[in-house]
Amino acid sequence: MNDPMESAEFSRDPYPLLAALRARGPVQRVRTGKDRTTWVVTGWAEARAALADPRLSKDTARYFADRPSGRDLAPAVSRSMLATDPPDHARLRKLAMAAFTPAAVGRLEPRIRQIAEGLAAGLGQSAAAAGGPVDLVEGFAVPLPIAVICELLAVPEGDRAAVRRWSDDLFAAADPDTTDRASHALAGYVAELIAARRTAPGDDVLSALIAARDAGDRLSEHELVSLAVLLVVAGHETTTHLIGNGTLALLRDDALHARLRDDPGLLPAAVEEFLRYEAPVTLATFRYATEPFELGGVRIGAGEVVLVSPGGANRDPARFDEPDAVRLDRSGPGGHLSFGHGPHHCLGASLARAEARIAFEVLLARFPGLRLAAGGRQGAEGSDGTDGVTWRRTRLMR
Ligand code: HEM
Repeated sequence: MNDPMESAEFSRDPYPLLAALRARGPVQRVRTGKDRTTWVVTGWAEARAALADPRLSKDTARYFADRPSGRDLAPAVSRSMLATDPPDHARLRKLAMAAFTPAAVGRLEPRIRQIAEGLAAGLGQSAAAAGGPVDLVEGFAVPLPIAVICELLAVPEGDRAAVRRWSDDLFAAADPDTTDRASHALAGYVAELIAARRTAPGDDVLSALIAARDAGDRLSEHELVSLAVLLVVAGHETTTHLIGNGTLALLRDDALHARLRDDPGLLPAAVEEFLRYEAPVTLATFRYATEPFELGGVRIGAGEVVLVSPGGANRDPARFDEPDAVRLDRSGPGGHLSFGHGPHHCLGASLARAEARIAFEVLLARFPGLRLAAGGRQGAEGSDGTDGVTWRRTRLMR
């Protein structure tokens, strides 16, 4: 099949295309360039197996070293845990783990709520001043996760707008030069932050990482910068999409909206279901085969790229009844793969869940009459033509 991810349809609604791929088989070869093909995994069982399979590597530096025409990840994140295999992976991940345990996130919750309340108050004021609709994504879903991660790393408030711009460009810029500039700017900024924190340590995650590096030298300076940059960039766009798409799902369903408004105790289940229904990383987490092996009935060759699709896996009818419906009664183990699975399972999952739950609690309590401002952007590129929602044009995120 030719690259279905290139089409405008895919941005508007990727699920029919992912279902069509899955109908041909859980692991399919897709043409992604003139002479290039990639395996795409859309079956839930096969995706889960692939995410934990040690024969699939995430070491992009090694992958691109053999392919001089290709491009590695931006240098700012090329030595992060997300782009390494064992044993380096475990060493890097262990250093950052303490900051993201459920207990650590629990201690952060009052501050997350305070930030969410402040942003919601701002939205309310804008709505009153404008006497009309406000942009929930720009005014709430974007700034909340950025503010939280910047607080964790003690990034000064005045620098946060620049941090946001660089990290947007790092992943979403259309041209490689902009990505390179953003990568260097962000890495340079983080290196300065590290230098400043070395002389004046604080009670923040960055200071703790520096102390770990300087005490045992378990981390090279490049690894320390990569780790800090990964923490800055990994958690905010994804969480933005969880809040934005979750709000959309509940505003499209009056009964669900009313249930969640009346019983916030249902919000943890709703957050899980929003994660399943609209995986923020919709298509593709990257891996490549280090040796030939079989997956889902196909033979994958050494060196071939395998994209595991959380969005595809989460809508697999072999795993989920009525996969295209939002239902709060799905529970138990073996759920969605939105945070991945296996050794690279999202380090920030507890934090993302807490942020989203608090975001919905605050929104529903403060704005009981919240509804979609229909029509404003009908017909815009990426609009799905029903309620004026404009989808961002990107292959990776939704
Ligand atoms: C890894 C999704 C929020 C930090 C991952 C992976 C996924 C993911 C799919 C695994 C990638 C792979 O196996 O190839 C998400 C989603 C989020 C979210 C959907 C929000 C809804 C966060 C937050 C942080 C974070 C808030 C906090 C800083 C990380 C890190 C990794 C990771 C450090 C790398 C883990 C490793 O390689 O061992 N995330 N993430 N994420 N995520 Fe998240």
